[in-house]
Amino acid sequence: MNLTVNKSKGLKGEVVIPADKSISHRSAMFSALTEGVCEVENFSMGADCISTLNIIKELGCQVDFIADKHIRIDSKNAFKKDRYKLDCGNSGTSMRLFSGILASRDMESTLFGDESLSKRPMKRVILPLELMGAKFKHNDYKAPLIIQGGELFPIDYKTPMASAQVKSCILLAGLNTYGETKVTEPYVSRDHTERMLKYLGADIVCEGVTAKIKKSKLEPKSLKVCGDISSAAFFLVAGAIVPNSDIILKNVGLNPTRTGIIDVMQQMNADIEILDKRVECNEEVGDIRIKTSDLKPVTIEGAIIPRLIDELPVIAVLASQADGTTVVKDAGDLRNKESDRIKCLVNELKKIGVNIEETPDGFIIEGKTNLIGGSEVECYHDHRLAMSLYVAGLVCEQPVMINEFQWVDVSFPEFLPMMQSLF
Ligand code: S3P
Repeated sequence: MNLTVNKSKGLKGEVVIPADKSISHRSAMFSALTEGVCEVENFSMGADCISTLNIIKELGCQVDFIADKHIRIDSKNAFKKDRYKLDCGNSGTSMRLFSGILASRDMESTLFGDESLSKRPMKRVILPLELMGAKFKHNDYKAPLIIQGGELFPIDYKTPMASAQVKSCILLAGLNTYGETKVTEPYVSRDHTERMLKYLGADIVCEGVTAKIKKSKLEPKSLKVCGDISSAAFFLVAGAIVPNSDIILKNVGLNPTRTGIIDVMQQMNADIEILDKRVECNEEVGDIRIKTSDLKPVTIEGAIIPRLIDELPVIAVLASQADGTTVVKDAGDLRNKESDRIKCLVNELKKIGVNIEETPDGFIIEGKTNLIGGSEVECYHDHRLAMSLYVAGLVCEQPVMINEFQWVDVSFPEFLPMMQSLF
């Protein structure tokens, strides 16, 4: 589906942000490990999380929708077969986290995915799991991955990059391994795995950049997923850059390992306010109000990068409307996402008039630019690029046509009607 975006005269109103993708994945995966019955409220309906749901069904869980976005997972008969073939679709989180879950079980599992996922690097999870004793077959460390799992040894592992997927993969292998498994990252990445495992009763301890886990049984419990700050990010940026805007985003996850975008927007002088902060299922949640803002440029580097990694494409759009030079560094791993998010983003934003230059580990943007638009742009099968380009289109003089916009369904099928409800 090709979509034309027109210049907006202002965004006004309130939207409830749909479920967090990272937390939804984990809620389904960890429910599958409880050997009991769990209910998950507000599960994400994005294609990625549906891939995880289909995988746990394939693994033997009974999954029923008992209300809208509300599922019941019975895992009493899970993991009973010797061999599994599991389709991860476009989802890196499914492939990397299930690798850890399956490697510690005496079975052969094949994990495969779509064209984009088959090109993404898996060495980062294969290496530590091999150190723990798992056996892999792969094609130059790419999917499909065939895992011969079994009893593993604990490790004390220092990850070369701050990646929640790598950390979670090792912790999940450690959850089913005697002894203490320890993971240390260069900077703290999102800690939803640690928080949810703790909530479900696992023996897990977090100290700064290190997490330690011992073999544990998980208790079946009810879980509720909060809204995704990475989805809210498109509305935060749209609200800040579209003239005459004032919007409220309800039910947004505010876990500090994810709120880098709020810190950056505050530094950029955005008119942003957090309302009604609370805690649900061991995760901070709140509402956010954002209004049209006079923006200053910023340098984004180092420890904050993992706290806003998925938001960088839309932050580039934000920076194009800030008065001065914004620099993003230390974000080379953006090249390993659903697309090469540095190259593709720079290519497409240039087409609509953004003054942006690619660097090896980020980009430099010179603002403020009056965006001309009037062109056709590509999203490279990448949901976050599609939505970032849409937000840019809202401030372009001429309409912007985004090709294959349907890729938004990977994380945020509700995006378009939700945005249009604010017109
Ligand atoms: C995720 C971790 C991040 C993020 C991805 C989801 C997770 O990836 O980009 O969208 O749910 O653990 P990395 O671990 O590769 O940084």
